[in-house]
Amino acid sequence: MSSNRSANDRKSFTNPPSVALKRPRNDSGNKVTVVLGAQWGDEGKGKVVDLLATESDIVCRCQGGNNAGHTVVVDEKEYDFHLLPSGIISTKCTSFIGNGVVIHLPGLFEEIDKNEKKGLKGWEKRLVISDRAHIVFDFHQAVDGLQEVQRQAQEGKNIGTTKKGIGPTYACKASRTGLRICDLMADYNEFSTRVKNLVQQYQSMYPALKVDADGELKKLKEYAERIRPLVRDGVYFMYDAIHGPPKRILVEGANAALLDIDFGTYPFVTSSNCTVGGVCTGLGIPPAYVGDVYGVSKAYTTRVGIGAFPTEQLNAVGELLQTRGHEVGVTTGRKRRCGWLDLVILKYAHMINGFTAIALTKLDILDVLDEIKVGVAYKINGKRVPYFPANMEVLQKVEVEYETFSGWKTDTSAVRNWNDLPPKAQNYIRFVENHIGVPIKWVGVGKSRECMIQMF
Ligand code: GDP
Ligand code: IMO
Ligand code: MG
Repeated sequence: MSSNRSANDRKSFTNPPSVALKRPRNDSGNKVTVVLGAQWGDEGKGKVVDLLATESDIVCRCQGGNNAGHTVVVDEKEYDFHLLPSGIISTKCTSFIGNGVVIHLPGLFEEIDKNEKKGLKGWEKRLVISDRAHIVFDFHQAVDGLQEVQRQAQEGKNIGTTKKGIGPTYACKASRTGLRICDLMADYNEFSTRVKNLVQQYQSMYPALKVDADGELKKLKEYAERIRPLVRDGVYFMYDAIHGPPKRILVEGANAALLDIDFGTYPFVTSSNCTVGGVCTGLGIPPAYVGDVYGVSKAYTTRVGIGAFPTEQLNAVGELLQTRGHEVGVTTGRKRRCGWLDLVILKYAHMINGFTAIALTKLDILDVLDEIKVGVAYKINGKRVPYFPANMEVLQKVEVEYETFSGWKTDTSAVRNWNDLPPKAQNYIRFVENHIGVPIKWVGVGKSRECMIQMF
């Protein structure tokens, strides 16, 4: 057939006529403001989101699941959010759980019950769930645990996951065996059959896996009715939010850049894109509607779980940061590993995310130190490494080059203005800002909402 084609046909085959694809105009519609973790998580995203949520109409989660633990302190009451967007405490704000999130429904309702006891009211009028979000089953959580045991037995180390079933659920999503909220909302017999098939698949892979499929399905049927009024087509919800009347839309990133499945310290990462691309795929919005992207970083570094951590301090400094900073995981209660601020990772996170500005939290934790160091470059065999190594064995080997600052040795927790910060603290902040090449917009000096210095 193709041999009969005329020269003209061939020309039009290899050079298809150009199609005038119009990009959405950048200047129409509401843009989303994004808050993302710039390190290994727990940077204080919850606090920054809370600060912005008071002025927002919609707060969205776009990825991750209840592996996240975001702390918000309001009027001395401490809330920890895992699946619920932190905006849920603001009565003027709608909270949206997007398609990129993986939802463990028993976990969601446990979280709701716990927060209701703390005074959360009217959440059902303010929560919207995307019908395309994937479901985390109890057996995904059990498989997460079994995989960790297997990793330990085979490789002598595991990842140190939160065992919330995140990896297995995203693996099901990618292998197209996952079940979504829309499936739970549709024919229940069909849903049950697919769940049972999935259980069978897992049991053939993990003979030790015990699953009470009928029990889990019965519980899910009840949860299905409780969430039915909240479920919406997320794409249309976001489209209306962007193109309707003026609205302030905020996206609350979970986990962080160095835990990103593509860009993080693989394989010691989580299973979603926690960098800016996850905002578009996890909500179904065009990139042109991503507005300001705020990166959150502690004034030092922490990490929960296993994996390379070049600036980690396994000494008295690390212990001081851990105890003074109350560095204990919100989701798992594990002690966080602590070390100096690492500007190599912050620059790398900025290359991927294009931060508009940074929130530098927990400056107050450094108040008592005589000397403060900041990692500025990595070296191997005395030679500078000009990039952030992808390979973990290489990253484990790097030596860190530090800049040393003398400590300000002054309590900053009551400071609310830049001018009232000790000059040595100002010097530290300006150095970080200049080195990354991104302005610092907020400096955190305590847990609560008002303990934040706004720079501009
Ligand atoms: P997230 O996961 O990024 O939201 O952070 P987490 O809530 O897991 O961990 C951050 C911890 O630091 C929480 O206990 C916050 O209350 C606390 N925190 C946030 N900002 C500050 C700050 O500026 N100073 C102090 N002392 N604590 C802070
Ligand atoms: P927030 O949103 C800190 C880490 C886990 C583990 C790895 C993989 O509170 O910043 P997973 O259960 O996701 O498969 O675990 O990722 N991790 C986090 N560490 N903060 C988080 O979230 C995290 N989410 C995942 O500790 O090392
Ligand atoms: Mg956290």
